[in-house]
Amino acid sequence: MRTLRTKVAVVGAGPAGLFLAHELRAHGVDSVIVERCTREHVERRVRAGLLEEGTVRLLRGSGLADRLDRQCLVHDGFQLRFETTSQRISTAALIGEPTYIYGQQEVVKDLLAARPPGGDSLYFGAQDVRLAGIAGASPSVAFTTGGEQVVVEADFIAGCDGYHGVSRASIPPAALTFHSRRYPFNWIGLLVSAAPFAPELVYSVHPRGFALQSMRTPEISRLYLQTDGRDELSDWPESRIWDELAQRLYVDVSRTRERGAILEQVRVPLRSTVAEPMQFGRLFLVGDAAHIFPPTAAKGLNVALEDASALADALVTWYRRGEDGPLEGYSATRLRAVWRAQDFSAWLTWLFHPAADATPFDHRRRIASLTRLAEGGSSAIAFADEYVGRSRRRPPSRPHLTAPRIHELDGMEG
Ligand code: APR
Ligand code: PHB
Repeated sequence: MRTLRTKVAVVGAGPAGLFLAHELRAHGVDSVIVERCTREHVERRVRAGLLEEGTVRLLRGSGLADRLDRQCLVHDGFQLRFETTSQRISTAALIGEPTYIYGQQEVVKDLLAARPPGGDSLYFGAQDVRLAGIAGASPSVAFTTGGEQVVVEADFIAGCDGYHGVSRASIPPAALTFHSRRYPFNWIGLLVSAAPFAPELVYSVHPRGFALQSMRTPEISRLYLQTDGRDELSDWPESRIWDELAQRLYVDVSRTRERGAILEQVRVPLRSTVAEPMQFGRLFLVGDAAHIFPPTAAKGLNVALEDASALADALVTWYRRGEDGPLEGYSATRLRAVWRAQDFSAWLTWLFHPAADATPFDHRRRIASLTRLAEGGSSAIAFADEYVGRSRRRPPSRPHLTAPRIHELDGMEG
C-alpha cells in the first residue's frame, strides 16, 4: 500500500475537477486527482458545446483560452422556429453578449495540456475509489491502480465525479436533500460530419417535437431530436432520424451527401437534480456531482466551471489567510446560482417540448410565450440575460437577510 499526502484530493477529472486543480496549482495549493476512466475516454467524451461569456472569461483569466480564442465560433444570436416562422434572437444586440461554441472535450484537452508533465498527481483508471473520514479533519481517498492500493490523505476532498460518482453517495442520506425531476422525454444527440445547414444555432419547436441544430466546428454538426421517454435508440434508424430532422427543422436533408455520416448517436435523458447542501464536513461537491441540468439551456458545463472557480477561491483564501468564511459560504452561494440556472433550464425545457398529453390550451400558451420572446422588448432582454448567464454574475440585488420578515409586516398596512 502507498500513502500520499496532499492538500486537496480531487475525485474526477472532468472539466470541474481539472479546472479546480488548475486553479489551485496556480495559487500554490497542491492536489491529487483520482479518475476512474482512462485519459483517452475522458478526452473523447462528447458532451455540451456552448460556453457562456462568464466561462470564457474564467478560462481566459487562467491562461487556458489560447486555442479556444483561435478555434471557437462566436455566435451573436440564434434562430427560433415555431409555427412555420423563423425569428432571430440576437443576445449581442439585446444585451451585448454573444455565446461561444467550443466542445467540452476541447476544454478538457486544454486543461490536460496545461498540466505540468510527470509527477503522480493525476491517476487515470483508478478502481474501487472510496472516501473516508469526510466528517473529520483528516479525510482520505483510497483506490487501486495497477494492482496496488493507494491512499491519498488530504485536508479537503472535492467531489467532482459527476452524477454517478462516489462522492455524493458517501454523504449520509440524512444530511442531504436530493431534488430530482425526470422529464417524460429524451433527446437523441447526433454528431455528424457535415457543415451545419445554418450558421447559427436553430431551436425549433414543432408539433412533432423539439429539434436543435448546433455544431462543434464549421465541418461538424451537432443535432438533437426530442423523443418519447420510452424510446430506445433502436426505435430510431437513420432514415427516421433524417426524416424527423427535415420536418422539425424545416430543412431539406433529402440528399445524402448533405446529411453527412453520423459519427456518434447517443440517448440523452432529460433531468434536473440538485443536492443540498453542496458540502458535508470536509467534502465539497462540484459540478455534476451536485447538480444535473436538462441539456436544453446548456448550463451544465458553465455552472460546473463556476462551482470549481468558487471552491478554488475559497480554498486559496483558507490556505493563505486562514479564513474559513468563503469555504463555509460555498454551498449557500453556489446553490443560489444553481437554482437560478435550474429555474431557467426547467422553464426553457417546458417552452421547447410539446408534451404528449398537452391540451390545446397548453399549446396556445406555449406559442404565446414564444411570440413574446420573438417580439423583443423586456421579455427578450430578460431571456437573453439568463441564456448567456449574465444574470448569475450579478450580485444579489436584495439580499434576503435585509428584507422584512413576514411578521414584521403585521400592522404596517392600512
Ligand atoms: N471515482 C473517480 N472518478 C469518477 C468516479 C469515481 N467513482 N465516478 C465518476 N468519475 C469521473 C468520471 O469518469 C468523469 O471523468 O468523474 C468525472 C466527472 O466528470 P463530468 O461527468 O464531466 O462532470 P463535471 O466535471 O462536473 O462536468 C460538468 O457539464 O455539460 C455538463 O454534464 C456535462 O460533464 C458535464 C458537466
Ligand atoms: C450543444 O451544442 O450541445 C448545445 C447547444 C445549445 C444548447 C444545448 C446544447 O441549448
